[in-house]
Amino acid sequence: MSNSILLSAKGIHKSFEDENGGAPLEVLRGVDIDVPEATITSIVGSSGSGKSTLLHIVGGLDKPDSGSVLWGNTDISSLKNNELATFRNKNIGFVFQFHHLLPEFTAIENIAMPALISGKSIEEATERALKLMERFGVAERRNHRPTQLSGGEQQRVSMARALMNEPKLILADEPTGNLDDANTQIILDMLFELRDRDGVSVLLITHEKSIAQRSDILLEIKSGTIS
Ligand SMILES: Nc1ncnc2c1ncn2[C@@H]1O[C@H](COP(=O)(O)OP(=O)(O)OP(=O)(O)O)[C@@H](O)[C@H]1O
Ligand SMILES: [Mg+2]
Repeated sequence: MSNSILLSAKGIHKSFEDENGGAPLEVLRGVDIDVPEATITSIVGSSGSGKSTLLHIVGGLDKPDSGSVLWGNTDISSLKNNELATFRNKNIGFVFQFHHLLPEFTAIENIAMPALISGKSIEEATERALKLMERFGVAERRNHRPTQLSGGEQQRVSMARALMNEPKLILADEPTGNLDDANTQIILDMLFELRDRDGVSVLLITHEKSIAQRSDILLEIKSGTIS
């Protein structure tokens, strides 16, 4: 593959202490991963193998015990918390299995939020949020709160929110795990369109073989390493 590398994680180790005083659980034991620009990478692996842990580290939501997460020359695992929050907000969009939308805000407010946090005006943020809602077919639901949306609509709103600041990378942790076949297809087609139309890279955790097979790169986590 000739696409240049967007992000490179090297030698990632992560253990969790055992609360009962037993040996720490070594989840990641030296994981290396390169994410090229404009590609879809799927990560598969059994439950508890460390997929979410890896995604959180790559996205700067958690720190590795050792190893580096490089964006160009920046090692994001060494950034201070406030620098990291700014970096994430600008460069990474997150989509989770359960949407993590804020229940007290409407769909359009949820989508506009990352832009407001980064200092955009309400007018500018709302205008872009509405465009994204139209693109994902949820514009007529703009004033609904998350509980008033279907699962598929919630997930499309989450995708729109993830794209608000035009990130280069989408990190998706089983984004279709909670959806029926039709909605799964819609979300997947959106991810592939993002790659093709916007040059976005997607790092995707999935249990579904059909998705994994459609990806540009397929990685498996096993015994704390990637093959
Ligand atoms: N904060 C934490 N403290 C202690 N143990 C943790 C913590 N987070 C994860 N673990 C443990 O680390 C292991 C890997 O968890 P992780 O969530 O990364 O797995 P996963 O591959 O995403 O699994 P699944 O497919 O079920 O979502 C599990 O055994 C889990 O119990
Ligand atoms: Mg997980």
